[in-house]
Amino acid sequence: ATAVASAVAAFRDGDPVLVHDAADREGEVDLVYPAASVEPADVARMRNDAGGLVCVALAEPVADAFELPFVVDELDHPAADHGHLGYDDRSSFSLTVNHRDTYTGITDDDRALTISELGRAAADPDAVAFADAFRAPGHVHVLRAAPSLADRQGHTELGVALAREAGVPPAVVVCEMLDDETGGALSVDDAKAYADRHDFAYVEGSELLDALQ
Ligand code: 5RP
Ligand code: CA
Ligand code: ZN
Ligand code: ZN
Repeated sequence: ATAVASAVAAFRDGDPVLVHDAADREGEVDLVYPAASVEPADVARMRNDAGGLVCVALAEPVADAFELPFVVDELDHPAADHGHLGYDDRSSFSLTVNHRDTYTGITDDDRALTISELGRAAADPDAVAFADAFRAPGHVHVLRAAPSLADRQGHTELGVALAREAGVPPAVVVCEMLDDETGGALSVDDAKAYADRHDFAYVEGSELLDALQ
């Protein structure tokens, strides 16, 4: 099977995929799961093995239905000037949220509940009263995807495109793989070795763009 086919199959089974965006972009490998199937052990893997920021990317129509803004558009502060971001026009950050049935919001149980409920809500966004189910601020970052891969090619959009292709709700949790030795991004070689060790799919952003754009 191609890397893309293996990644799509993994998502259908609720399994994670390692996604490298591009060497000339962030140059990061994210551990990515379909949000709806995330369990507490998956959150533990993200914080222990990946180590980056745990974020849920929502497809644009889902974020629109929930009236979730780009946070940069909401901030009236000079720090919200992204003129020099470098690798992209703007970050995809929206609000941070907790599911209302969480306590502190940060435990593996609490974050898994917030993430999986965001995934379930994305299956039928118009049926969800977002503010009845979630509160902001919280401990899970929400990312707003651009309309398509033609508009932006971040992990946000690559993950959402993979979810759509797999026929699962268009919400994915992403977390950067960091190197515990250097503190920098985990190298592509080390990320591939991690994927092999755990029998996880690994896919290049360029392969997803070729197959799904
Ligand atoms: C949030 C990030 C990550 O890089 C994440 O992959 C989403 O960003 P992008 O869509 O720009 O790749 O910075 O932790
Ligand atoms: Ca670690
Ligand atoms: Zn990224
Ligand atoms: Zn990043």
